[in-house]
Amino acid sequence: MNNVTVVDHPLVQHKLALMRDKDTSTKSFRQLTREIATLLCYEVTRDLSLDEVEIETPIAAMTARMLSGKKLVFAPILRAGMGLLEGMLELVPSARVSHIGLYRDPETLDAVEYYFKAPTDLPDRLVITIDPMLATGNTAVAAIDRLKEHGAVDLRYVCLLATPTGLANLQQHHPNVRVWTAAIDHGLNDHGYIVPGLGDAGDRLYGTR
Ligand code: URA
Repeated sequence: MNNVTVVDHPLVQHKLALMRDKDTSTKSFRQLTREIATLLCYEVTRDLSLDEVEIETPIAAMTARMLSGKKLVFAPILRAGMGLLEGMLELVPSARVSHIGLYRDPETLDAVEYYFKAPTDLPDRLVITIDPMLATGNTAVAAIDRLKEHGAVDLRYVCLLATPTGLANLQQHHPNVRVWTAAIDHGLNDHGYIVPGLGDAGDRLYGTR
């Protein structure tokens, strides 16, 4: 599928398998989410531009390369997206954060917004929306709609699991948004859960049901 990168690094796949296991504890699930987020962050930032800068090491002067261009915003979709945030901030600690509160209506599976707060300079930043599960894609589409309304133009999307339906929905509404995911699963069950998936990511992160 165009615009989609499946991060099949062995460490990502190993951690994902542990997360899928229903017997993995809340503590381990949270830790694994954080670790996998760091690995996904490494991949989603792989093509960031660099500038040459002159520095002096303790031994000699040299030309080194440092990040240039747009600064980052991570945009976690509450609440499960928060599970990925810390791991991403570990690699890019100066990134800004946009919080987007959306929940899925259990009947219609539509996204309903209850909170939105973003930095004012979204148009100047690379905005990376983060949410573990790209299921129907409705929440992702709604989140990116809101970010675009606030001026975001350069957007990427990071998740742990995606479905073909969710990816198609996102690409139909936002064809310029590239997606990074650890896996693409078969589809959705009647309750909108990804199959085989890993269950409810928010509940598993926070020990709720
Ligand atoms: N959200 C989740 O947490 N899990 C799913 O399987 C689908 C959506």
